[in-house]
Amino acid sequence: MKDQLFSPCELGNTNLKNRVVMAPLTRSRAIDNIPNSLMATYYGQRAGAGLIITEGTSPSPNGLGYPRIPGCFTPEQARGWKLTTDAVHEKGGRIFLQIMHTGRVSHPGNMPAGAEVLAPSAVPFADLKMYVDGKGELPIPLARPMNVQDIVDVVEEYAATAKLAVEIGGFDGVEIHAANGYLLEQFISPITNKRDDQFGGSIENRLRLVRNVMEAVVAAIGADRVGMRVSPYGVLNEMGEYDSIEETYQRLAAMANDAGIAYLHTVDHVGMGAPAVPESIKRSLRDTFNRTLILSGNYDAIEAENDLQANKGDLVAFGRPFISNPDLVERFRQDARLQLPKQDTFYTPGPVGYIDYPFLVKESVS
Ligand SMILES: Cc1cc2nc3c(=O)[nH]c(=O)nc-3n(C[C@H](O)[C@H](O)[C@H](O)COP(=O)(O)O)c2cc1C
Repeated sequence: MKDQLFSPCELGNTNLKNRVVMAPLTRSRAIDNIPNSLMATYYGQRAGAGLIITEGTSPSPNGLGYPRIPGCFTPEQARGWKLTTDAVHEKGGRIFLQIMHTGRVSHPGNMPAGAEVLAPSAVPFADLKMYVDGKGELPIPLARPMNVQDIVDVVEEYAATAKLAVEIGGFDGVEIHAANGYLLEQFISPITNKRDDQFGGSIENRLRLVRNVMEAVVAAIGADRVGMRVSPYGVLNEMGEYDSIEETYQRLAAMANDAGIAYLHTVDHVGMGAPAVPESIKRSLRDTFNRTLILSGNYDAIEAENDLQANKGDLVAFGRPFISNPDLVERFRQDARLQLPKQDTFYTPGPVGYIDYPFLVKESVS
């Protein structure tokens, strides 16, 4: 019985055919940072999801920290994305663009000429390395701390990307990536934000960039088309716990509520070796934010149904299962066996390990 999981619902003003979400998954197939037809095939194969959230996509040359990740800050990139949104919409799917600025999690070797590794403060990594094509894993150079003009510019970049995504890219909306240790979380966390201006110090100051970005994106495309991903207690990219963490996220959820955005999306990476995320913070987000809450992290269909029935959230996102099961929703319906993902092709260019995972039945040509 997966009545909840398969029930349609509304997300802002977007109708979803079920409550299964494809989580954002970086796959590094965008040669020259331009989305292409291979990516359209991949996303089109997965259009059985009620909602697809794309892989992290940069709003700026400065946010292209990883090899071959897509951008959506030029019309050419947005037109490249239109191939994907058309493929998904043709099959009745819905798709949001995840806007990810990598900030300090970057290497100049992955970035176009003239781009810069930026961060709230110059805080070195303890161990993190960055893969660069042709060079392997390299130490990450210290980022340049952003000045106020850089901050004004980045806010505009988020808004411009959201507009391009909707107007040219054909997206149903965008997800602001404020999770997993990328630029926005670098501002939220005192571990990486050592500033003493209006963007650092107090909770209000550490949340100011997220607030500004959220408000600018809402002004650009409307609150109903905007979501945000957060990862309280996440440890990716050398993030971690700090004293005011519960209050910080409670305030963030209240801010998102006031802005009227369509959803909040929580991350729990316990299934990937991270420490457990306390139930208290999940409850606090649920209680504070009145619109849609998307849960994610190590779910199977049964746990997803249970958590929906227990009203812990409204939608459930699946990450790795969608890599290896393009027809994941159909497999859930039939209680079919799931295929396991092959990690060695997560980030390799080309079709292998990307569009060649078998369907239960051959894809119908319609
Ligand atoms: C290959 C891979 C790439 C990922 N890329 C992103 C990303 O671009 N943005 C993001 O927010 N999370 C990213 N994640 C995290 C997933 O969205 C998800 O939170 C994680 O896989 C846990 O969910 P799961 O247990 O269902 O896989 C990635 C995870 C994997 C395995």
